[in-house]
Amino acid sequence: MNSIPFGNWIISSTDFGDVCPVFKKDFETNKKIKKADLCVTALGLYEVYINGSRVGNQVFTPGWTSYQKRLQYQRYDVTELLQDINELVILAGKGWCVGELAWNGNHGIWNDVISVIAVLHIQYTDDTRESIVTDKDWQVAKSPVLYSELYHGETYDSNVTEFDWQPAALYEHDKSSLIEQEGEPIVEQDRLHAVELIQTPKGETVIDFGQNLTGYVEVKLKAPKGAQAKIYHAEVLDKDGNFYTENLRTAKQQVTIICNGEEMTYKPHFSFQGFRYIRLEDWPEEVDLQNFTAVVVHSKLKRTGHFECSEPLVNQLYQNIIWGQKGNFLDVPTDCPQRNERLGWTGDAQVFVRAASYNFDVNRFFTKWLHDLKADQFEDGGVPAVIPNVLGKEGANSAAWGDAAVICPWQLYLSYGNQTILEQQFESMKNWIEYIRAQGENEFLWNTGEHYADWLGLDGQAGSCKGATDEGLIATAYFAYSTSLFIKAGTALQRDMSSYERLYQNIVKAFRETYIKDGKMTSQTQTAHVLALYFDLCENRVAIAKDLVELIHQNKDKLTTGFVGTPYLLHVLSDNGYAELAYTLLLQQEFPSWLYSVKMGATTIWEHWDGIRPDRSMWSADMNSFNHYAYGAVADWMYGVMAGIKPGKPGYEHIIIQPITDKRLSYVKASLDVKYGTIVSSWRRENGKTVYSVEIPENCTAEIKLGNQTYEVHGGKHSYRI
Ligand code: BGC
Repeated sequence: MNSIPFGNWIISSTDFGDVCPVFKKDFETNKKIKKADLCVTALGLYEVYINGSRVGNQVFTPGWTSYQKRLQYQRYDVTELLQDINELVILAGKGWCVGELAWNGNHGIWNDVISVIAVLHIQYTDDTRESIVTDKDWQVAKSPVLYSELYHGETYDSNVTEFDWQPAALYEHDKSSLIEQEGEPIVEQDRLHAVELIQTPKGETVIDFGQNLTGYVEVKLKAPKGAQAKIYHAEVLDKDGNFYTENLRTAKQQVTIICNGEEMTYKPHFSFQGFRYIRLEDWPEEVDLQNFTAVVVHSKLKRTGHFECSEPLVNQLYQNIIWGQKGNFLDVPTDCPQRNERLGWTGDAQVFVRAASYNFDVNRFFTKWLHDLKADQFEDGGVPAVIPNVLGKEGANSAAWGDAAVICPWQLYLSYGNQTILEQQFESMKNWIEYIRAQGENEFLWNTGEHYADWLGLDGQAGSCKGATDEGLIATAYFAYSTSLFIKAGTALQRDMSSYERLYQNIVKAFRETYIKDGKMTSQTQTAHVLALYFDLCENRVAIAKDLVELIHQNKDKLTTGFVGTPYLLHVLSDNGYAELAYTLLLQQEFPSWLYSVKMGATTIWEHWDGIRPDRSMWSADMNSFNHYAYGAVADWMYGVMAGIKPGKPGYEHIIIQPITDKRLSYVKASLDVKYGTIVSSWRRENGKTVYSVEIPENCTAEIKLGNQTYEVHGGKHSYRI
């Protein structure tokens, strides 16, 4: 609960249709100001201005949370912006709260009207105070933003300069869900210049920014009054080189600018797009690439990891993973940023969280999201498919998706030593385990329910998105894994976990009895073997690992795994003595492989191994994102095995350095910023030897494991030639 004496929720008293409302309050301050603080939020999105200046540098405020339970407000220090006579203006749009969300065309999932609330606290130098709050004395008018939807784009009429102000109306709405901003600010992070102007075979005018990204285009133009300049956004060109938007499904990603004869600079206020290319329609002046800038928008995350090796294609893959994370970490970890989806899919977040936490400091970002997960968790402990939950029970409670409730907090603990998140999420983790326990034929086996299975695995039936691995096998394996992590979490919090230890033993027993027959996995799939090995569920590790290797060889040294098997595949191989094969899979360039999409020109990670087929036809017209980070989970193998940087203790107070080299590479170099400093691990070939160079932050200890040797070291630089 917040303790800020907020004003009232206010709305427009008349229906503006799609037009974004702008609210305003004029006021005077007649004494010298010591400090002024503004708190604002919206049911919808807002931008706030004082005396014509934009307040703060955040965009898409107030961010995206489970609004009915947790609605963030932002607090700004506005001391410097106030004058004697002031105009406080709030422009508002629909955003996630009021606009369209998900593929079923739902509008207004949390509220059907845009509303804002604010309080400005002024402290004068004579120590008197005053508060300006949103109330019925505010005014409201139609703004120049005629239309704005996250998926569909924005229409802006630059001719609207005079506003028809009318009194705002009070709006009855809960205030108890207001919380101060928890997440990282969403900001404009980067600006990319257009790289090429293309006339497509169809005759379209297309601009290439050279990088698939999330954000919007800032455009400069001077065109006759009334001209309507249109910009469409797309991720790829089709096989003939034409602008391709079918994979956006119903998301229009269209921006329309109504010109006024003057030179203007414009970028959308409340809509973002996933794109590399834009198509211009009815462009009212000659196209000059210098007038187009792609503005990259995402949560402000500190970059912590860097990786590089001697294979340029792997380096490009790594860059694609970084861009995939940027594009899908816009306040919520989303599946994709372009089609009519862009949702906080739990499974995707779970498979990527470890890689994500090497690349960037995602501690605060995931903490906020996990608080929403907890808030949206069902009474029976079940977990919605997406957080914030916009799907109700649809698709909820799938194994490997709901497990985000356990895996993500545990990863924050490992990566950042964040014990608080374990405390905060402990009940949520437990409730998920208890939910699973109540499913299934007996309390140790989870062989019921609807699951996404090994989503997009290549070994499934033709036309199915589900891989071939038995769903009960996956579900029971995750049940065991989540229970094991929950026990570790409870142990870290010094709680008695003995009843869960018994539960865990029983799940493992049930798994072995049901899914391993005569020493063989009942599902002869790569993913089944990967899970049994990675989650430590099989007694006969050597044989199961051999079987996995055999399956991979049978498939011409290529993977078949989907969302569930892929993140652990290379780890399982290198953990069990098959690092060379793991490298073979990583370096594989033919479909299916990580480098296949790189060879096909990808600049982000694709949803499907064959999003674009070798003949350049599309995997499908409707479920084919080119910016889906899930398979980018392989970055954690790059840092953790190729460079060999792993936490020895949560937060890296103790560090394990155990790089595994491969003769096909001549060097690998990675670094990771942790709270104690920077860890560096690299190796390179030199005159027939391998030179390992390691840097450990002061106040940390490390075990450097090279071959059969382990070196126990303290902070500082260490070098070995072997
Ligand atoms: C999303 C996925 C998600 C899946 C659930 C898709 O539509 O884009 O990434 O995990 O549905 O199966």
